[in-house]
Amino acid sequence: MKKVGVAILGLGVVGGGTYQILTEKKEFFKKTQGLDVTVENVLELNVERALSLGVDKSIIASSIEEVVSNPNVDIVVEVIGGVGVAKTFVTKALKSGKTVVTSNKELFAKHWPELEAEAKKKNAGLFFEATCVGGVPIIRALQESMQANDIQSIKGIINGTTNYILTKMAYEGSSYEEALKEAQRLGYAEFNPTADVEGFDATYKLSILASLAFNTKITIDNVHREGITGVDTDDIAYGRQMGYTLKLLAIGKKGEEGIEVRVHPTFIKNDNPLASVNDSFNAVHLVGDSVGEIMLYGRGAGALPTGSAIVSDVLFAAKHDEYFYAPFKNNEKGAAATKYAPDFSSQYYVRLAVKDAAGVLAKFTSVFGKNNVSMKEVKQIAAEDGVAQVIIVTHKTHETVMKKTLEKVSALKEVEAVKACIRIEE
Ligand code: HSE
Repeated sequence: MKKVGVAILGLGVVGGGTYQILTEKKEFFKKTQGLDVTVENVLELNVERALSLGVDKSIIASSIEEVVSNPNVDIVVEVIGGVGVAKTFVTKALKSGKTVVTSNKELFAKHWPELEAEAKKKNAGLFFEATCVGGVPIIRALQESMQANDIQSIKGIINGTTNYILTKMAYEGSSYEEALKEAQRLGYAEFNPTADVEGFDATYKLSILASLAFNTKITIDNVHREGITGVDTDDIAYGRQMGYTLKLLAIGKKGEEGIEVRVHPTFIKNDNPLASVNDSFNAVHLVGDSVGEIMLYGRGAGALPTGSAIVSDVLFAAKHDEYFYAPFKNNEKGAAATKYAPDFSSQYYVRLAVKDAAGVLAKFTSVFGKNNVSMKEVKQIAAEDGVAQVIIVTHKTHETVMKKTLEKVSALKEVEAVKACIRIEE
């Protein structure tokens, strides 16, 4: 039986889950995979943590050099996170010819070309199923199961923390701050929640997923990013009354004008399958020209779900002698020929606070008209202390046109504020 030696760099939540699966399921993998997988080394500064997981002291390495020079280690699993130390360690492992499995979306989204170049030099494998959507096998689906398709779109809820927060706001009426606190209490959101709530995490994942979906390197700089910190619970409630659910959606689309890649709060119809993906769950919806629609749903984070993705890469790597790399030009800047569509078009939900007086509606609707923004629905929802809340749902219009229109609308003396502008996705 083929023997496979694994080293795990970092025994945090995901590293712990990976260690648990690899050790508890050793016999299972012998039976089902024909592989004898052994954790040969762990690299973890917190020795107490390692011992508490049942790691034998003899396999705790004291340096990356010890790991990469261990001839029994075939595959190095990096679950440290961030780009500093993790990048140094992954590079050292690849340079020494070890195959690397990583869950590190930031490292991968920022340095995939560089790491891949190192891997190629030594014919080493570089696997990254766990970088996107945790336990949901989306990378393998794109690489190994959807080759027959020209993928038209990929849309997903790919950040569990923000999905949890938005679900709390929608179903319990919590404010953003209250929902964030609860997410932190439950361990979904970090003490510094910026990466999740400002959409960076989803941006890293979308850049990886869209690169695979559209067969061209999509750099993070080309992803339009907005987080959820400005979302008002009132808009979630008003939207629901109008048939929409608010999600932090990652959208990749290929159209006539080019590729759209964007992460932002988005209203989707209540009967869209993504609308019922709640709490910390993730889901990805794909449209391929041969297969049509596909949706994958599951846990995007956590020790065992992410460990499941890592172990699947370990087993896959162990069964393959030849590794494949990105089938497209994979350099830091992507291919010059890749055409993006930053001025995408969308329907919009706009909420204005306006003076509750005669002729006000005519004033701002005429600005919409002059800018050729067609309104689908206009609704006055409340008037208090002489201020009315008005919601406008537009037909499709370009982003730049909408921005310009709202600048003009907010300059009107009858308009107190543009309270919200949220894109609506079909
Ligand atoms: N912080 C991520 C999330 C989990 O909330 O989905 C790992 O990517």
